[in-house]
Amino acid sequence: MKRFYLTTAIDYANGSPHLGHAYEKILADAIVRARRLEGVSCHFLTGLDEHGQKVQETAERLGRDPQLLCDGMAKEFQAMCQRMGVAYDDYIRTTEPRHREVVKDILRQLNRKGEIYKAVYGGLYSVRAERFVQEKDRIDGRWPEDFGEVIELEEENYFFRLSNYQDWLVDFLQKNSNFIFPAHRQRQVLEFLKEPLNDLCISRPKSRLHWGIEMPFDGDYVTYVWFDALINYISAVGYGTENFSNFWPADVHVIGKDILSPAHAVYWPIMLHALDLPLPRCLLAHGWWLAKGGAKMSKSEGNAVHPMDYADIYGSDAFRYFVLREMNVGQDSNFSHDLFVARYRADLANDLGNLLSRLVSMVDRYCGGTVPAPALDGDLEKELKSFAESTVAHVRERCGAYDFAGALERIFSLVQAANRYLECREPWKLAKGGPEEQKMLRDCLGSGVECLRIGAELLFPAMPAAVEKMLAQLGVERAGDWRVLAWGKSTAGKKIGKRTILFPPVEEEEDALPPLSA
Ligand code: MSP
Repeated sequence: MKRFYLTTAIDYANGSPHLGHAYEKILADAIVRARRLEGVSCHFLTGLDEHGQKVQETAERLGRDPQLLCDGMAKEFQAMCQRMGVAYDDYIRTTEPRHREVVKDILRQLNRKGEIYKAVYGGLYSVRAERFVQEKDRIDGRWPEDFGEVIELEEENYFFRLSNYQDWLVDFLQKNSNFIFPAHRQRQVLEFLKEPLNDLCISRPKSRLHWGIEMPFDGDYVTYVWFDALINYISAVGYGTENFSNFWPADVHVIGKDILSPAHAVYWPIMLHALDLPLPRCLLAHGWWLAKGGAKMSKSEGNAVHPMDYADIYGSDAFRYFVLREMNVGQDSNFSHDLFVARYRADLANDLGNLLSRLVSMVDRYCGGTVPAPALDGDLEKELKSFAESTVAHVRERCGAYDFAGALERIFSLVQAANRYLECREPWKLAKGGPEEQKMLRDCLGSGVECLRIGAELLFPAMPAAVEKMLAQLGVERAGDWRVLAWGKSTAGKKIGKRTILFPPVEEEEDALPPLSA
């Protein structure tokens, strides 16, 4: 049976994980969790891009074997995923034999089909981007920063006949307007395709780059890092075996906007088409996290955000919540430490944390620890139920559209509505009254708990660990299926668990994390 197959970019192994890497994997994880809550069987792939000049240079600089360097980086990236609650199903490393063999097989096939030829090419070469560039790539007369040093280079290499497929790709993009999300990026790609495409140089002489996959028909060359890396999406799911059709075509490739065009939106569709394979259903290009003032984050500028530090101080769920809530998928966002702290305090510690802790302590104090059934006698209860149910529909729809910011905003409106409800009903006063007030008290706490249960189920894609803890305190198991998530009596009669503070106050000194955007 075909699964919903989601991939992320595979990270370069030449530097430690940072906010951009963490965000992308968290976004992908949230998409998969939300799909699973819709009853869809999923496969989530991420991994590490280990070949190329930069890794070779880093290894040389450190005097280390590149494979050992990559082994260490893989551990670091996997630890970051684990710490952030990113539950991938498979992790591909491009130095694994399962990947190398598929890359070689594909090169052989394309060569047999006449899609690859050898030629001498002289031109301008960007060392950092590891590709030939053109005068037209200059912006305001200058090379983009990403290109690093640009040098004159003449070399004999292997080329892939990209240009043969330009008309086909334009036609495909015109007919499939939902291929790239957000839509304006698809228009940018079509704009880019108005200029003639050059064939793609897919080899590097070993004299210059040895850390790569050898060309199967010429031992003096290794293959170009992008050609190698893109193939991970099919090598990881058994390309060439019977199993492959259970996964391919991928449903979403989650990537950053910087690697959409030409790599994912031009090279990759053409490579697949040349191999007679169907294209992925969607390329989801998220925006970039920037430092204060919109500057690019970088180690050298000292303005990089360290996701692990945030997770250590505030918890990984707080970090997940913040990045998913603050970034509109597709747009860039500035990372502000002040805003992080403000959201932590207002949304998590105050609105959500207090709702949980007051409900649990009142059920304990007034109901002997057993959650009463929600009742619908009063208008306020009916209103709360109806808001909770429309929130379920809204959140399902928003998550389906990759709008986690919108989904979270709505869930927190529900949390606030539940807090307001408690303030209106004042259960602490009802507790002092006679039998009628006692019934109202039970109805109120039952309704409050049921509302929070629904909110918690909806929060699961964003904050999986906190949700499990919240539900344990409410004494219920996670239902884990949004299709049947409705106001009911699922919490009634359950014994509440031990009360713990989910989002404890963080001391001022500890708040003084990175100085960047304070
Ligand atoms: N190795 C290539 C991808 C190959 S995919 C077949 C690569 N690696 S990367 O480590 O540079 O970037 C990995 C992902 O992180 C990319 O999708 C990139 O857009 C994303 N991010 C890197 N910095 C980022 C931010 N500051 N903000 C958000 N995401 C960014 O590219």
